[in-house]
Amino acid sequence: MSVFTIMKFKKIQFKNVKKKLKKRDLKELIFIIRSENKSSILSKLNDENLIIYINEVIYSKQLDLFIAYNKKIIGYAITSSKPIYLSINFKKYQYFFLVDLILKLKILTILNLIFLKLNMDNLLISKKNRVIFENSLNLNLLAIAKKYQSKGIGKKLMEYIIKNKKDKNTKYLSCETDTKRALMFYKKKLKFKYLGKKIRIPKLMNVLIKKI
Ligand SMILES: CC(C)(COP(=O)(O)OP(=O)(O)OC[C@H]1O[C@@H](n2cnc3c(N)ncnc32)[C@H](O)[C@@H]1OP(=O)(O)O)[C@@H](O)C(=O)NCCC(=O)NCCS
Repeated sequence: MSVFTIMKFKKIQFKNVKKKLKKRDLKELIFIIRSENKSSILSKLNDENLIIYINEVIYSKQLDLFIAYNKKIIGYAITSSKPIYLSINFKKYQYFFLVDLILKLKILTILNLIFLKLNMDNLLISKKNRVIFENSLNLNLLAIAKKYQSKGIGKKLMEYIIKNKKDKNTKYLSCETDTKRALMFYKKKLKFKYLGKKIRIPKLMNVLIKKI
């Protein structure tokens, strides 16, 4: 990394968002979700539902929105103090989200939601590993805007998340990915270990874990 690059990125701040985002920041965040997390359920929702989801995360006790900020949002992460809180927190909106997906004929996404809802998505993970996963702090989504990738920002954001975990007794951080590059990032850069496969259509997800 050149001296210029280091100076340019020195001003990056990491935050745990606690109040509603400004319109411009929301727009930026939605852009990153749609362009970098294309295979996620979240990216398939319309803007209105996506904003409902983001605000729910901001005000939830168990979920957190972390951002990397350099005059504008350049990266984000959503965490859940246990994986189960993700579905619990969205129970009241699930009907709206489902209608949204049906109208767009997102059949695969709907099937994935059903697996999630029936708690069937973890069936391929061994019983022992499932207990570890179910009690871990879960990184639900993470992305850095394309222009800012490969500059160490993703790693710094992850370090910030680990340092600021709410429950000091949490022993593990878990995450999921279906791309080779993200797998390299988690395994090589952050020393995550492979835990098992999660059922997702059309591609199984790698579940990874790290002691924190
Ligand atoms: C994965 C991701 C968050 C990493 O953030 P980052 O700021 O690029 O990460 P760092 O600079 O700290 O580390 C980069 C390393 O991660 C890996 N990597 C994973 N995805 C990458 C990508 N799209 N671009 C560049 N490097 C990537 C490489 O091993 C890379 O090492 P290198 O720079 O030596 O080639 C980011 O690349 C991204 O947003 N990717 C698309 C969304 C995604 O896959 N999210 C994770 C699953 S939810």
